[in-house]
Amino acid sequence: MIKGVVLAGGLGSRLRPLTKVTNKHLLPVYDRPMIYYPLETLRRAGIRDVMLVTGGNSAGDFLRLLGNGAEVGLDSLSYAYQEGERGIADALRLCKHFADGERIVVILGDNILEDDIAPHLREFEAQASGARILLKAVEDPQRFGVPIFDDDRIVAIEEKPSVPKSRYAVVGVYMFDARVFDFIAELAPSARGELEIADVHNRYIAQGDLHYSLLEEGWTDAGTFESLFRAGELAFRVRQNRQQR
Ligand code: G1P
Repeated sequence: MIKGVVLAGGLGSRLRPLTKVTNKHLLPVYDRPMIYYPLETLRRAGIRDVMLVTGGNSAGDFLRLLGNGAEVGLDSLSYAYQEGERGIADALRLCKHFADGERIVVILGDNILEDDIAPHLREFEAQASGARILLKAVEDPQRFGVPIFDDDRIVAIEEKPSVPKSRYAVVGVYMFDARVFDFIAELAPSARGELEIADVHNRYIAQGDLHYSLLEEGWTDAGTFESLFRAGELAFRVRQNRQQR
């Protein structure tokens, strides 16, 4: 089975003062700490072997909360520590040994999904190689990575464009073959000093090997006050729906 990676670093500066003394991914979303949701998304898709990357001062709290992962349904939970604030691709770089030449699925620790990603994971496994991203139509694409299309083919991903060229956001769930670590090694920091995940996607596009699926149900990130609030509402609604089924 494909291994999973959860990225839970960063300073969460857009959520101060909530994040002044703790990591964003430990904040409450409805009735659980935020980090439970991406772990649950992986577990529901059958992924049992996960590496969590965190950083900052509260890293030890993840170990206290999640331990060896058994309580959240995992067979194995490993940890890596990201020094500094160098972006999503830099955090992923730390998982090269964990991936051990195999394919991986990566989820950002602040992404709350209603969809089961298992069907998309199966499509990825059916690919001979490459990467697969998930897209969701949103009202405010300028807050996200945004794909540019030529017909139904993605020709580029722009990170937080002031004038988005489509209405889709790149969801924080990425499926990569082992080449991802070679592409990261070639990246240079962006204007904001980070190794950008959009640049990794653009390398796959240059190889003609970036594929995508559309999410159908609710999705949000939780990195701003408004999106954190919406994350709580989504988590509440999803819980009610699942109880009614
Ligand atoms: C990150 C990515 C962006 C993606 C978003 C999804 O942005 O850089 O491409 O659309 O996650 O949550 P961030 O939330 O780190 O600003």
